[in-house]
Amino acid sequence: MDQTGTGKIAAITGAASGIGHAACRRLLEAGWTVFGLDLAKDRLESVGEVFSAYQDRFRPMVCDVGDAASINDVFGAMGGSLNALVCCAGVLRTALLEHMAVEDFDLVLNTNLRGTFLCAQKALPLLRRAATPDNPARVVLLSSIAALRPKIVSGAYAASKAGVSQLCRVMAAEWAPSGVLVNALAPGTVDTPMVRAVSDPTKSKGYRPSGVSPVGRIAQPDDVVDVMMFLLSDAARYVTGTTIPVDGGTQAAFIPSGSP
Ligand SMILES: NC(=O)c1ccc[n+]([C@@H]2O[C@H](COP(=O)([O-])OP(=O)(O)OC[C@H]3O[C@@H](n4cnc5c(N)ncnc54)[C@H](O)[C@@H]3O)[C@@H](O)[C@H]2O)c1
Repeated sequence: MDQTGTGKIAAITGAASGIGHAACRRLLEAGWTVFGLDLAKDRLESVGEVFSAYQDRFRPMVCDVGDAASINDVFGAMGGSLNALVCCAGVLRTALLEHMAVEDFDLVLNTNLRGTFLCAQKALPLLRRAATPDNPARVVLLSSIAALRPKIVSGAYAASKAGVSQLCRVMAAEWAPSGVLVNALAPGTVDTPMVRAVSDPTKSKGYRPSGVSPVGRIAQPDDVVDVMMFLLSDAARYVTGTTIPVDGGTQAAFIPSGSP
């Protein structure tokens, strides 16, 4: 375990669960200092205990990305500079669009799209401060395979993630002169609490996750974080404005039922 640190600093939203939790672990292992942001205070405290070996390199912060004031407070309290922002906070609400409650639609768009925009906007001055010509700062957004190939019973989620991928492209072009690279990841089904919560179609209004990919399994969070680590590395210094599928080939080609 690296306790010394590299001096690099990241802010990760959605840090208390799933992909965000795995991202925190991997960056801490790699010597980064990590501000871990999440709405869920209790789970964030448990994560703080799990990462206690890293002492002051893990800094949990309660933040609701659906609330501009909360984001202002948290990014204001970080001070200094940030080498990376990773936006994992997200929610999935399922229903046929015909029956979708407007509250659920608003929650999904507010959290996934507006929350991502607000965090990136507030992080930009801190990212600019860290960026150098040789070492651009990074933003990694969590889009989804749903942005590339939407599915029924999750239309609001698909719209929010298509929005994230479009934000990514425009942020990348607008922020490249500041030395800030912006990319998005588009996972297929990943084994996390978000997916487990909707795995029973009788309780999730008929929603079905994309499921096992052509590779023969669903993803684990570290399958996604491996590609994230590439985007945060020097090897990705000339990559910006992309949405990279991490889906085991799920959206590459339609496989008709009954195919060999
Ligand atoms: N799991 C998948 O199959 C999958 C696939 C594609 C994309 N994604 C995306 O990856 C990201 C992480 O998903 P996950 O599967 O790890 O989900 P998860 O539910 O395990 O974790 C999401 C975290 O976000 C936090 N969060 C929710 N609303 C918040 C808010 N308003 N403010 C701050 N934090 C908030 C939750 O408390 C939770 O800790 C999400 O953006 C999700 O849409 C997931």
